[in-house]
Amino acid sequence: MKVTVVGAGAVGASCAEYIAIKNFASEVVLLDIKEGYAEGKAMDLMQTASLNGFDTRIVGSTNDYSKTAGSDICVITSGIPRKPGMTREELIGINAGIVKTVSSNLVQHSPDTIIIVVSNPMDTMTYLVHKTTDLPKSRIIGMGGALDSARFKYRLAEALEAPISDVDGMVIGGHSDTGMVPLTRMATRNSVPVSEFISDERLEQVKEDTKVGGATLTKLLGTSAWYAPGAAVSGLVQAIACDQKKIYPCSTLLEGEYGLNDLCIGVPVVLGRNGIEKIVELELNDAEKAHMKNSAEGVTKTNGLLNL
Ligand code: 2OP
Repeated sequence: MKVTVVGAGAVGASCAEYIAIKNFASEVVLLDIKEGYAEGKAMDLMQTASLNGFDTRIVGSTNDYSKTAGSDICVITSGIPRKPGMTREELIGINAGIVKTVSSNLVQHSPDTIIIVVSNPMDTMTYLVHKTTDLPKSRIIGMGGALDSARFKYRLAEALEAPISDVDGMVIGGHSDTGMVPLTRMATRNSVPVSEFISDERLEQVKEDTKVGGATLTKLLGTSAWYAPGAAVSGLVQAIACDQKKIYPCSTLLEGEYGLNDLCIGVPVVLGRNGIEKIVELELNDAEKAHMKNSAEGVTKTNGLLNL
């Protein structure tokens, strides 16, 4: 199993590290345009192999896509992260050109690959990969909902004063500060609806804290987060690599599902060796449907900035 991670910045390097530690891939190629940067990070990570107990080979490359040839899965993290006060959508001007070039180069060397997009604005970048490559829609996946759901569970556990392992919840919709749809109605504490334990007001606060989870960290860190994004995308890679048939909320091209068309947005999907193997259509209530519609309008508006 060969995985390429483009972008050796904090998110890409964290993703490579988590993939290596999980030890399901034979090789991870870490690629960056900055001279020597990916090679350095790969060597540093390889020097943890005996300490962290993995046999995965991590190889660095300075913009040499021939090293990525034959990758089963390619993760795109390249582009600029946001600064405090910025929205993800404001990154489109610079990141669209990068994602277009990177995705073309990846498919040229790995025509059968599965691409996972992390670069922001992620839903629109995922849509751009569809317009740039001729990969089938099952092999183009946007990572946002897995990260947002992890933040949702963190906030739920905090409100419930419960261990994270007792909590389950999912965030669908756009990966944006205003467009996310945390499904509080379906969240559970060990199979019990969380509404049995916390008030509607507290749940509303959990929802709002989840939506700005990324911005909250960017304000604290001065740049975008990296541990949770790296861990979230490594989970998607593992689900595909190990054919786990796990359900994750991922950004995928909708063609009528949820009443939406011609955009990529976060919905629950089954991930396996073929990438997105099934889109799961949840029975949403009227409020959830309205949030999804509003979220889709925001994503479509950002897609319009691509001038395709
Ligand atoms: C985040 O929310 C980088 O979009 C990513 O942290």
